[in-house]
Amino acid sequence: MPTSRSLKVVLALSLLVTVSLVGLVLFGLLRAWWSTPISVFGFVPGQVEQPIEFPHPVHVEEAGIQCDFCHRSVAKSEAATVPPLELCVACHMDLPNGTFAGMGHPSVEHVKELWEKGEPLDWKRVHRVPDHVQFMHEPHLNFFREQQGLETQQVCSLCHGDVGAMNEVRQVEDLKMRDCVDCHKQNNAPTDCVICHY
Ligand code: HEC
Ligand code: HEC
Ligand code: HEC
Ligand code: HEC
Ligand code: HEC
Repeated sequence: MPTSRSLKVVLALSLLVTVSLVGLVLFGLLRAWWSTPISVFGFVPGQVEQPIEFPHPVHVEEAGIQCDFCHRSVAKSEAATVPPLELCVACHMDLPNGTFAGMGHPSVEHVKELWEKGEPLDWKRVHRVPDHVQFMHEPHLNFFREQQGLETQQVCSLCHGDVGAMNEVRQVEDLKMRDCVDCHKQNNAPTDCVICHY
């Protein structure tokens, strides 16, 4: 009978599709859970080439500037944001004299040059979760500051390491699904898929 035969074909096909879909999801899950990015073609995970060198230590350890002074929206919006050129200029330029603090350092000279040409500084992203993942800084900062009494900088270092001591920011934690879920379990934070996946 042609109808039951085509039915069988349809059934077989849909089974095949289901199996391969499940396989794909499982594969993705296992990969996301266990793997660290492999370095191929000279790509070193967590390391990017910035347009200029920005030394965190002179700012954080020597000048004592707080992380959230420069990463202003870290506790307020989805993105922590890196400071725009204007903020460098606001600190480094001595307005009455028109002189720049730190001149002689190639980065500061570059900042001044861009400023005069009216061009922005295009920082490259170091940390980024895939698009299907939802991450917000705010609940993390609130929880660890208010409920665990940590200082802002100590909270950042849970996921970013000691950035204040890095002359070049690199990613030190995997921040893969396993890391997120492990910490959520330890702190009784939710682990439902939809919390982190749209
Ligand atoms: C004077 C301003 C300033 C201060 C203070 C500062 N940062 Fe930054 N931060 C920057 C700039 C500029 C960049 C982008 C360039 C780079 O990656 O080095 C950056 C980059 C970063 C990145 C990488 C962003 C990405 O693309 O993934 C992290 C994480 C970070 N900072 C954390 C911190 C932490 C934690 C502190 C406090 C211990 C801190 N910063 C203090 C200016 C600052
Ligand atoms: C809140 C004020 C502040 C902000 C914002 C700031 N700086 Fe600085 N910066 C300082 C201070 C203070 C020093 C240490 C004193 C000095 O060397 O003049 C410094 C030092 C530096 C040095 C080292 C200079 C040297 O001779 O070793 C560089 C490079 C530099 N800053 C670049 C930047 C860049 C790029 C930005 C913008 C992303 C920036 N700074 C934003 C205050 C700031
Ligand atoms: C619970 C882990 C965690 C903590 C705590 C944390 N971060 Fe992040 N941070 C991340 C992840 C994950 C990303 C990548 C987010 C994305 O791709 O949307 C990120 C991205 C960033 C970026 C990249 C630029 C952007 O706009 O998002 C900056 C800057 C940053 N964090 C700074 C900080 C600072 C400063 C603190 C402390 C006040 C902090 N982070 C605390 C996990 C964390
Ligand atoms: C260092 C521990 C830690 C790490 C690592 C961590 N989280 Fe969290 N996260 C928490 C805690 C604790 C809360 C609960 C805060 C609260 O109760 O308000 C939370 C809350 C959240 C929330 C909000 C949940 C809600 O109630 O709406 C999201 C979304 C989230 N985390 C995503 C992530 C993602 C994605 C990652 C990995 C990239 C991650 N977290 C890594 C500790 C962590
Ligand atoms: C606390 C946050 C969090 C929770 C809860 C969570 N995930 Fe994830 N998941 C992530 C992050 C972060 C990644 C991205 C890892 C990476 O960088 O590749 C990810 C990746 C994945 C991927 C891989 C996609 C790919 O591109 O490789 C799948 C599939 C997935 N998650 C399914 C789930 C399912 C199913 C659940 C519920 C049982 C779940 N996740 C719960 C954070 C979470």
